[in-house]
Amino acid sequence: MSLILGIETSCDDTSAAVLTDDGRVLSSVVSSQLEVHAPYGGVVPELASRHHLENLPEAVRAALAEAGVEQGDLSAVAATAGPGLLGSLLVGLSYAKALAWGLGLPLFTVNHVEAHLRSPWIEHPALPYPSLSLAVSGGHSHLFFCGSPRQIRLVAGTRDDAAGEALDKLAKHLHLPYPGGPVLDRLAPRGNPKAVTFSLPKMGAGSLDYSFSGLKTAALHHLRTRALIPSAVGDLDQLPAWEYDLIASFQKRVVDHLLQRMKQAAFLLKPRSLTMAGGVACNSLLRTRLLSLGEELGLPAAFPSPDLCTDNAAMVAFRALDFLRSREAAPPEVDAFPTAHWQSVERAERPSC
Ligand code: KG4
Ligand code: ZN
Repeated sequence: MSLILGIETSCDDTSAAVLTDDGRVLSSVVSSQLEVHAPYGGVVPELASRHHLENLPEAVRAALAEAGVEQGDLSAVAATAGPGLLGSLLVGLSYAKALAWGLGLPLFTVNHVEAHLRSPWIEHPALPYPSLSLAVSGGHSHLFFCGSPRQIRLVAGTRDDAAGEALDKLAKHLHLPYPGGPVLDRLAPRGNPKAVTFSLPKMGAGSLDYSFSGLKTAALHHLRTRALIPSAVGDLDQLPAWEYDLIASFQKRVVDHLLQRMKQAAFLLKPRSLTMAGGVACNSLLRTRLLSLGEELGLPAAFPSPDLCTDNAAMVAFRALDFLRSREAAPPEVDAFPTAHWQSVERAERPSC
């Protein structure tokens, strides 16, 4: 049995994990920078890279210790090369290069979004392909058709904000703590999801793309036209009823939009499973509704445990296992990349929507 060390530093979580080559997670350590960025209401790139630099050696040490192994037991290193914040990516990638070449091990670079897409299989290895897979986080709202782990094609992306970004922005307008997604998730059940009407974004010409900025603007319009002033109370259990109603209605519409597109795409592309991952895939309503959609369509639906939904290195190492034996290790000059592009599903495969 050989062991692979994964390293992830694409945004604000510093993470290291050790996996066996058959995909068992022996350890997964995540050092969060939430407290660093919370006062700014969003990730500050320069601070993120500096803290990766400080936290990564300890995260790697902890991951090895938790797995009960030493550096010398490793047979490969995997690191996220992109997409993400360039400075943050460079910290993890440079560390991984130095470690791999110092130990004489092969280094495999991984696409962060593809690692998210693959992560449901860590806990559900028998899920069938092709899968319709949603990557939904603070930076991504992308729908993919994965014919196999190595055949990934883009069905739809977002034209403006990502779903997590929209949730975080509403929370910011309501003076709620950062990041807003988990807070809205916790508060939404107290409100009436039908209290505020938000229309679903419409795209022309059969596009399945997402758009969240209109929902955000509609929420702001709702606040302004009714002269609603978000309360500044620290106690989230004591908010006025209209705030809970707005949160519940907004969250419901974000989930409706995400899954309406998924349903349309499922009819057209006929996948054998529905999957999702990324921070927003922790959302309780989205998880319940994806399972219901799976039942409605007669398809297995799955997502990772919350710890494997948010950014983590276990998914990075797991993704690298897909090409450990078939792809050459990365050369010393391998570079980080801030953005990524995927081949899209040809129009012929989705003739009408
Ligand atoms: O995948 P992730 O950890 O980092 C990015 O790559 O962006 O996702 C972070 C995003 C944030 O927007 C956060 O508000 C959202 O995921 N999020 C949630 C929940 N937990 C995290 N959104 C809704 N409900 C949640 N429970
Ligand atoms: Zn992510």
